[in-house]
Amino acid sequence: MASELKGKVAIVTGGTRGIGYCIAQALLAEGARVFLCGRDSARLRAALENLAATAGDRVDGMVADVRRYEDCRKLIHAAVERFGGLDILVNNAGIGIMKPVDQLTPEEWDATIATNLSGPFYCCREAIPLMRQRGGGYIFNISSLAGTNPFAGGSAYNASKFGVNGFSEAMMQDVRYDGIRVSYIMPGSVDTDFAAAPGSRPRETWKLTGADIAKAVVDLYKFPQRALASRIELRPSQPPRKK
Ligand SMILES: NC(=O)c1ccc[n+]([C@@H]2O[C@H](COP(=O)([O-])OP(=O)(O)OC[C@H]3O[C@@H](n4cnc5c(N)ncnc54)[C@H](OP(=O)(O)O)[C@@H]3O)[C@@H](O)[C@H]2O)c1
Repeated sequence: MASELKGKVAIVTGGTRGIGYCIAQALLAEGARVFLCGRDSARLRAALENLAATAGDRVDGMVADVRRYEDCRKLIHAAVERFGGLDILVNNAGIGIMKPVDQLTPEEWDATIATNLSGPFYCCREAIPLMRQRGGGYIFNISSLAGTNPFAGGSAYNASKFGVNGFSEAMMQDVRYDGIRVSYIMPGSVDTDFAAAPGSRPRETWKLTGADIAKAVVDLYKFPQRALASRIELRPSQPPRKK
């Protein structure tokens, strides 16, 4: 039996730009209701306005910083209050600070682990009981190929994404008999402003797009429920050849 997205309620963290925005857009195009968050209120407002132009009142959101447990708790409960329940959680918000270990500050380490690893835990902890009440749900964690491939300068980012992979696999076993599916998606390079100032990076057409990751989320959701694609690697098909 395939699953319909029409009428489902989804939360997308970091949905104000980049991959999260594309995931929100794709879920809305399928008829879902979407509640999103980011830290910056102006960017949140702009994203909500743009998405509402086609989705109307099926989209809403709030400022929330996933590094804070209380923000995550409020985010999950605000979405339930707004749309009447929760079916899908997309833990997408993430940052990348790439520096060798001896140049990385403890604050940069903490921010990376808090955003990329603790944030998903906080949101899942609040979301799971609500999904159980509804008889099931779907949690998507946006990891990275950096979750299996270490690289120089990636210590904090690699540690956070290796952590997301382990967290996702253990949680999948915690919740599978509650009808809650868990998938983690590991993209390679995606053409966003990730780890750069918004708008500062030239577009590169060989990279994946946010829409590619969003299609994976939609397709996974619709996959027959008896089968769970728990771990997805998605890479550009023709990256520049290594010299
Ligand atoms: N781009 C890539 O090449 C790539 C590859 C593999 C995996 N990924 C993963 O994909 C996810 C999204 O990346 P992206 O490329 O779309 O990045 P992006 O363009 O920089 O967007 C990041 C989003 O997360 C939000 N965000 C950041 N920190 C947050 C926090 N503490 N609380 C709430 N929201 C926060 C940002 O909004 P505010 O700044 O307003 O908070 C923004 O909406 C990340 O988990 C990243 O690790 C990216």
